[in-house]
Amino acid sequence: MHFKYGAGAREEVASYRELTPASSRLFDRAKKVFAGGVNHNARYYAPYPMFVSRARGQHIWDEDGNRYVDYWMGHMALILGHSPQVVTSALRRQVGRGTHFGTGSRLSLELGEEVQKTVPCAEAMRFCNTGAEATMYLVRLARGYTRRRKVVKMAGGWHGYGTELNKGVRFPFSSSEGEGILAEEQAHVKTARFNDAEDARRAVAEAKGDVAAIFLEPVLGAGGCIPAKRGYLEELREIADGAGALLAFDEIVTGYRLSLGGAQEAYGVVPDVATLGKVAGGGLPIGMVCGSKEVLSMADPARKAGFVSIGGGTFSENPLSMAAGLATVRYLRTNRSRVYGDLERKGRELRTGVDSALSARGVEAHTTGAGSLFLTHFGVDPSDAESSAKGDAAAAHRYAIGMMERGGFIQPGHPGAVSTAHTERDIRAWIAASAAVGEQMERKRKSKVSA
Ligand SMILES: Cc1ncc(COP(=O)(O)O)c(C=O)c1O
Repeated sequence: MHFKYGAGAREEVASYRELTPASSRLFDRAKKVFAGGVNHNARYYAPYPMFVSRARGQHIWDEDGNRYVDYWMGHMALILGHSPQVVTSALRRQVGRGTHFGTGSRLSLELGEEVQKTVPCAEAMRFCNTGAEATMYLVRLARGYTRRRKVVKMAGGWHGYGTELNKGVRFPFSSSEGEGILAEEQAHVKTARFNDAEDARRAVAEAKGDVAAIFLEPVLGAGGCIPAKRGYLEELREIADGAGALLAFDEIVTGYRLSLGGAQEAYGVVPDVATLGKVAGGGLPIGMVCGSKEVLSMADPARKAGFVSIGGGTFSENPLSMAAGLATVRYLRTNRSRVYGDLERKGRELRTGVDSALSARGVEAHTTGAGSLFLTHFGVDPSDAESSAKGDAAAAHRYAIGMMERGGFIQPGHPGAVSTAHTERDIRAWIAASAAVGEQMERKRKSKVSA
């Protein structure tokens, strides 16, 4: 497809359905195979999700051959864009040497040493395959170490599909996230408001000395892509210390993204334990739980007393994820100032550019985020998950589809991420396309009002 980005291109823009008939047909087939036609709930959107056939750099192509500048970037895992050469050569090398050992290897050790070098809290760690596993292990470790039961998480905080932490994720943050999850299984998970230290204090006080960890994403992700306010993480550090609980960060999105050392380095607040994933695997499956030597020593299988049993799993430290992760983390460390300076600048330009483009067209929108992360909200300027949930979801959906019609992709309703593969021109094109979509949205709104 022609790249239809940009204001003024609006008349030539075909509708999503016209552009994506192959995806529509594949989704009809997929509904007969997969639950709801998808393999991750976040991947469904109306009228049907686009099916991708290939990806390279900042681009993805759908099954109709349409090319999009991709800001979903594989759930924000791809900081160097799709299939960067540094990763594909490491993978090619590794495929010739074996794809699954089920043993320790020099490769995994070297990745672990890189993580030790770069992530402030990571004195020791354990690898696994997904973020959900890592957060589950983190909770178990925190409980084993403190010998306490409760975990305070934040409303809107998404920590993967594990049973216990699947609580307080969606508005109104108090009801169940779905059937099949027992209240008893989540009885020891308490929810506090993000960016509200007093509410965390309340939740900790209510737990009466039984808090194992205060656990949060330093930039609330699915809950609205909202950065921690100045001083908030420091206050949580104090609250955790005062309560004898661990401070735990979920850095599965922010790790290696906000800075080389993640949010803990960017904010200058070092947690006791943290999870990593996404970027750390260089585009292949990974999860990590890391933290102080003392906490991680609880998971030493040679330990006689007080052993905390956490994974691994069959495919932990699989050589392909290790090779891709190592190539990525080394590249990021070696090119640190250029990479993070560039991502920060492009992210800021995109956020402010989109907001001015939309507001100039009469659309009330606020793009939140930090570093290379962004999410455009309609009708609200949120500081926590509750204010984010009050935004106009239908407008956010129209905007995302409108952007796809103009050759740009974000997963509707989810944060986007700039990668090093995105160019200055891509950012300007995204802003121009936002202006065109905003104009279209405003025209439709006005014609509805006058009808
Ligand atoms: C903050 C956060 N934690 C945990 C997870 C779960 O990771 P995974 O999808 O690899 O299980 C995600 C995934 O989106 C996430 O964003």
